[in-house]
Amino acid sequence: MIILGIETSCDETAAALVEDGRRILSSIVASQVDIHHRYGGVVPELASRKHLESIVPVTLEALEDAQIDFSRLDGIAVTQGPGLVGALLVGFSFAKGLARMLKVPWRGVNHLEGHLHSVFLSDAPPPFPFVALLASGGHTSIYYVTGPTCFQLLGQTRDDAAGEAFDKVSKMLGLGYPGGAVLGRLAARGNPEKIKFPRAYLDRDRFDFSFSGLKTAVNQYIKRHGDDLDGRIADIAAGFQEAVVDVLVEKVIRAAETTACRDIAMVGGVAANERLRCRLLHEGTDKKISVHVPPLDFCGDNAAMIAAVGYHYIRRGDLSQMTDDVYSRLKR
Ligand code: KG4
Ligand code: ZN
Repeated sequence: MIILGIETSCDETAAALVEDGRRILSSIVASQVDIHHRYGGVVPELASRKHLESIVPVTLEALEDAQIDFSRLDGIAVTQGPGLVGALLVGFSFAKGLARMLKVPWRGVNHLEGHLHSVFLSDAPPPFPFVALLASGGHTSIYYVTGPTCFQLLGQTRDDAAGEAFDKVSKMLGLGYPGGAVLGRLAARGNPEKIKFPRAYLDRDRFDFSFSGLKTAVNQYIKRHGDDLDGRIADIAAGFQEAVVDVLVEKVIRAAETTACRDIAMVGGVAANERLRCRLLHEGTDKKISVHVPPLDFCGDNAAMIAAVGYHYIRRGDLSQMTDDVYSRLKR
């Protein structure tokens, strides 16, 4: 089955063609980073307008790249939420119209379930059941995954997401937005032991996170050393990154041990972080737990992961309705 995936939940307009939920035929991601960069964050209205400009060209490019025409599509999967409502509406309305015109089945997909499925786009996906750490700009959670669309939330952040903390610290250090990747590169040149920032393990037997105290501690450190930051920036970045990595690694390993899983998947934009990948792989090997990560290009937002989830729903006839709406947040 060839599924067209569409993703417009935040600041990336993406379209992809995926066969049988795993084989990527094409994946196009048009980033809006250049537009939002100067505002230090995503401006929702600008994001929606840019999606509107890009959605048709990006979809056509995905089809052309895969050398597939509309007649060969078996279904369409589109992000329904969570995300920016105006941004979601562009992709969702487009997918509805296209599905209606082509008379193909379609399905609205949870963006986070998309991230969870990004690991199936790798060469060595985990067997079920496994534990997944999802660390992105909007979410940081641990799931117990028992089947393609079956997952249970074990814990999540009580305040900032890990990626959000990376972005905010990057801004404090004058590295710009979005800051995760830049901060990660800078941290590689610093000494993670030099400045010890706090780690919030909360209740050690639970899988909740908190990153706002860490963010405040970095802010206070920067204010205290305001006149004399030049030689310290890489060490601050490394100290901050190490604090985030320590908590993420400890919690997900503990989750795997608690659920007796021998496999961990790590997904979401922050899963691209070199230090995090390296530390989790290392600790996993020590504990005889296999760590699975998507290819780097599929850690951040993309439409292949949306097509990968949609495939499972569409295949079993679990479809969306033409009257369905998008949602900004997950229901609690
Ligand atoms: O999954 P994603 O692309 O979008 C959301 O669904 O939020 O994640 C984006 C987040 C941003 O906060 C970005 O700063 C962070 O992932 N990120 C990183 C790295 N690359 C992206 N954080 C740390 N290290 C990186 N290399
Ligand atoms: Zn995402």
